[in-house]
Amino acid sequence: MSFMDLVNRRESCRAFSDKPVEREKLIQIAEAGRLTPSGCNAQPWKFIVCDEPEAKAAVCDGVVVDGGKTGAPWRESVPAFIVMVELPAPVKPVIAEYYGDTQRFAQGDIGMAALNMCYEAMDLGLGTCIIGMSDQKKMEEGLGIPEGYECRGVIAIGYPAEVKEPRAKVRKAFDEAVSFNKF
Ligand SMILES: Cc1cc2nc3c(=O)[nH]c(=O)nc-3n(C[C@H](O)[C@H](O)[C@H](O)COP(=O)(O)O)c2cc1C
Repeated sequence: MSFMDLVNRRESCRAFSDKPVEREKLIQIAEAGRLTPSGCNAQPWKFIVCDEPEAKAAVCDGVVVDGGKTGAPWRESVPAFIVMVELPAPVKPVIAEYYGDTQRFAQGDIGMAALNMCYEAMDLGLGTCIIGMSDQKKMEEGLGIPEGYECRGVIAIGYPAEVKEPRAKVRKAFDEAVSFNKF
């Protein structure tokens, strides 16, 4: 499959079969995250692979905020999760001085790692959905994340419940999203 085919065919999966995801595949997905580029090569991340019942239950609880709101009402059927935690970024002094912020690139870095992992999962025949919202305290307590290290997102991973033809992408028109040489 060409890379553009991969881009066109990837879509979020929110219904999973109960087939467990092989540990080797989860390692390969996390490896795609580990190899992602980052600003100053700071790698401001830790990826927590959750494939055991206790850790998965902690994630299922952690993606529910404010006593019931969640972006993932389908979470209980997810065979595995990867929780992406932002770490302090050892960026070059010039970056820290200019922006007054060592974390300037960290969320972008984690976003790139997330997509690398989603594509690797897809290449392995798996479906994924990123879950953006989580309760920081619950995540810390449930997964032993040190205080102050923020969870920036969770990737739900599993074999899709059904193999569907990809839908047409709902995206801005090319000319709205892209311009040449000027805004
Ligand atoms: C940062 C981020 C957070 C997201 N959070 C959720 C979520 O909580 N629940 C959900 O069902 N989908 C979530 N998604 C998936 C988006 O809704 C989805 O990527 C978007 O609608 C485009 O659809 P596609 O992934 O099928 O191409 C999230 C995606 C991103 C990148």
